[in-house]
Amino acid sequence: MSGLIEKKILLGVTAGIAAYKAAELVRQLRQRGACVKVVMTESAQAFVSPLTFQALSGQPVHTQLLDPAAEAGMGHIELAKWADILLVAPASANFLARLATGQANDLLTTVCLATHAPIVVAPAMNQAMWSNPATRHNCQIIASRGIRIIGPANGSQACGDVGLGRMLEAQEITEALEQVTTGGLLMGKTVVITAGPTREPIDPVRYITNHSSGKMGYALAAAAREEGANTILISGPTSLEPLFGVRTIRVETARQMLDQALVLSGGADLFIGCAAVADYAPEQVALQKIKKDGNEALNLRLVKNPDVVAAVARLPERPFMVGFAAETENVLQHAREKLHRKNLDLVIANDVADSAIGFNSDRNAVWLLDAAGEIAYPEQDKRQLARRLMQEIAARLERHNSRKL
Ligand code: PMT
Repeated sequence: MSGLIEKKILLGVTAGIAAYKAAELVRQLRQRGACVKVVMTESAQAFVSPLTFQALSGQPVHTQLLDPAAEAGMGHIELAKWADILLVAPASANFLARLATGQANDLLTTVCLATHAPIVVAPAMNQAMWSNPATRHNCQIIASRGIRIIGPANGSQACGDVGLGRMLEAQEITEALEQVTTGGLLMGKTVVITAGPTREPIDPVRYITNHSSGKMGYALAAAAREEGANTILISGPTSLEPLFGVRTIRVETARQMLDQALVLSGGADLFIGCAAVADYAPEQVALQKIKKDGNEALNLRLVKNPDVVAAVARLPERPFMVGFAAETENVLQHAREKLHRKNLDLVIANDVADSAIGFNSDRNAVWLLDAAGEIAYPEQDKRQLARRLMQEIAARLERHNSRKL
């Protein structure tokens, strides 16, 4: 049953081409049983007519701060009190700036200040505007006040650019709202996730690494946070944007990742090892750049790195342990060996021989397996996959904990 049944959702629509997606959002929210009222900023009305939202929501659309039709001219207070959830989708860069600085210069920002309901924003803007330090700073402020930021997604944009800035799809936003109403499957839990590659230095300018982009691990961290977990991400070097509401510890080498994992996993409920930790590192790190003059070959002696996930699994009060297995052949067989050898509760296996999924791709296809069997998750976007996996992992964690009682 949907957690949105009879929930009163106030949808704020700000200016942006993604405003057309908000129409589908209203439809989906109502299909799940929610009652939706819409507030539009003045510029949003240049993209979609209020009449569209009126027809889809079955309610008058609100556009004016000073509304003579509202009781005692206090429409903003009535709307602020009415809402169970205030959702702003799309949330433009301008709106985020006004929200961060506590402005009340139109109906939507005034309702945001006046409401006690949880606020969720789904940003949508050009990728350069999203990555601009001013917008990053505004989002930090907004997130620190407990406002939930969902998205944006990566991909091609209406302006022709490609990058982060697309508004999430209506279904993704609806699922995020469901989590707000249920409080999330991992509420009160601490989740530690490793992501990205490690870099093992050879000399001050060279290192050994692999193709991991961090996308899978970051998607898992975002999904854990959406499920209400206190989420800690131990990240190797990546070019990904930091995730709002996720405590991120940056490391370079496998040893640094191990040190952080051992400290941060004490008291954690769940550990997910998604990082592609380098299995070997140079035994000696040269203090100066190794010169190539006169050297036709360079011999490096590599020594085995510590196994991060296996070391956390050996802790006396260990969290529920989920590892990954990146395989190029006999995927399930090798994954099962890792499950036992590393003493894990679950393993998520992917075939990294397929360049369309796994390393660096936005998509993945995996098997989730334990001693009893496996579930196949077909190829899909990593963010969607991460949400599905997190729901299954949360259910297994719950069962695991209830067996311990
Ligand atoms: O980052 P992306 O570009 O999104 O790509 C995602 C991914 C392919 C990296 C991810 O889906 C994945 O498969 N991660 C695990 C990569 C890996 O190192 O797999 P493995 O089979 O070599 O290791 C098995 C497990 O042991 C993993 O949980 C790994 O984190 C852990 N490990 C491995 C070696 C080591 N020294 N310490 C570890 O903790």
